Order: sequence, then C-alpha cells, then structure tokens
Amino acid sequence: MACESAVYAGKGWLCDALRIGGVDGSVFEIVGEAGFDRLTKAFYDRVPADEILGPMYPEGRYEQARVRLRDFLVGRFGGPQRYVEQRGHPRLRMRHMPFPIDERARNRWMELMTQAIQEAEFPPAVADEMLRYFADSATFMINRGRP
Ligand code: HEM
Repeated sequence: MACESAVYAGKGWLCDALRIGGVDGSVFEIVGEAGFDRLTKAFYDRVPADEILGPMYPEGRYEQARVRLRDFLVGRFGGPQRYVEQRGHPRLRMRHMPFPIDERARNRWMELMTQAIQEAEFPPAVADEMLRYFADSATFMINRGRP
C-alpha cells in the first residue's frame, strides 16, 4: 500500500511520518490485529526484567506502552489508524528523547524484538519485513552517545 491509498486521503503528512511509502501494507492483512497483539505481548513479556530497558519505564506503565506500540504498528503496517487518532502525529524520535537510548540500548531493544518476532511465528516474509523496519527505526531512535 502506498501513500495514495484511501486510508491516507487528505493525510499525506501521515503517510510520510509513518514512512509507509513503498512498503507493502498487506502485512496487516496477513497477521491482523491478533498478530500485533501477540508480537507486542511477547516483546513486553521480556522488557520488565531487562536491566537496560526495564528501568526506563515508569512503574507499572508497561501495558500502556505495549498498547501504544501495538496501535502504532497496526497503523504503520496498513491497519486502522488508532494511534494517530489518539496520540496525534507520531514524532517517535521526539517522544523518545527523555529516554537514554544509546547504541547498547538500541541493540538490546532489537534483540528482544527479534525474539518476540520469532515467538509470534509470522510467515518468513513478514518476519523479514518487520526485522528490516525495526532495525532502521530503532537506529533512528538513538539519542545519546553520538557526536
Ligand atoms: C531503540 C530502542 C527503544 C527504546 C529503549 C524504547 C523505549 C520506549 C519507552 C521507555 C517508551 C515510553 C513508554 C511510556 O512512557 O509509557 C516508549 C514508547 C513508545 N515507543 Fe519506544 N523504544 C525504542 C524503540 C522504539 C521503536 C523502534 C518503535 C517503533 C518502531 C517504538 C515505538 C514506541 C511507541 C509507539 C511508543 C509510545 C509513544 C507515545 O505515544 O507516547 N519504540 N519507547
């Protein structure tokens, strides 16, 4: 699905912000709401005990963060735009500024997300597309330890 899709009618900025152009939005059609729920649960099962990522979350806010990540991903991969309706323009890099994300934190996030993708048992093409997307966007989130 590209930015011309009816989903983005009058919202070209949204398509750009989600970096959807050129990406096949059919991932949502394949894994559905349930797939993104499974993925984010598998990811957030691992976060609280992690010594780098766990402490970044204000006490007890893992479930709220999980739901936001799920809704964001559902929209990013071609499903309903709940995240944007509720939270507005994603501005994810800006929203992550309060959290100290250096290369080590980025790599740990990727490690847990890779395990979550494996646990979610997506078809290989879907898993590959997600891994590529997450590797890029997680690098984009680095906000500490670089000149
Ligand atoms: C690179 C390492 C990353 C770290 C350490 C990290 C950490 C965090 C933390 C601590 C929060 C705040 C939760 C809260 O206040 O409730 C958060 C929110 C969020 N993260 Fe990340 N994150 C990372 C990468 C990513 C990536 C790659 C994505 C998406 C592709 C993402 C999507 C989100 C979303 C959608 C939210 C909710 C933002 C909001 O609406 O407030 N994060 N993240």
